[in-house]
Amino acid sequence: MLIRVMYVSQASGGITTTVTSSILETAKAHNAVNGITGVLCQGQDIFIQVLEGERKALNRLLARIFRDSRHKEIEIVLLQEIQDRMFPLWAMAHVNISLDEPMIKLNHPEFDPFTANGAQLYEILVDLLQQSSPIN
Ligand SMILES: Cc1cc2nc3c(=O)[nH]c(=O)nc-3n(C[C@H](O)[C@H](O)[C@H](O)COP(=O)(O)O)c2cc1C
Repeated sequence: MLIRVMYVSQASGGITTTVTSSILETAKAHNAVNGITGVLCQGQDIFIQVLEGERKALNRLLARIFRDSRHKEIEIVLLQEIQDRMFPLWAMAHVNISLDEPMIKLNHPEFDPFTANGAQLYEILVDLLQQSSPIN
């Protein structure tokens, strides 16, 4: 059974390149072995991550991510069973987002990751991904 989970969180300190590289390095190695795919977006000290995979493997990973002191205020905003993956090829892609980006302001003026509803936030993310070049 495949599920998709999306959460938002706040970086504990500033998000530095070192923090990001270290997260992505672990994520890629671990996710590839565990059949997990997804995307990590970050901007203005906020993380938005979508993870897809087998329910058991994903729950184990979430438990680890929740314990990670590099972020806080972690909120799951979407959890759904899925038939197909949205990100089948990415063990973990990475996108930098700016909440001041014209596309976000124009198409989603009300955008606030901590109050937007999950489906909305997921749509915004897919929009963003189409207009950016994720690194994977
Ligand atoms: C925002 C964020 C996203 C993360 N995403 C992943 C991920 O997709 N896969 C992964 O294995 N670890 C991810 N991590 C790292 C885990 O929290 C954890 O450090 C790592 O899995 C090693 O776990 P361990 O120290 O219990 O061995 C992420 C951490 C943060 C802060």
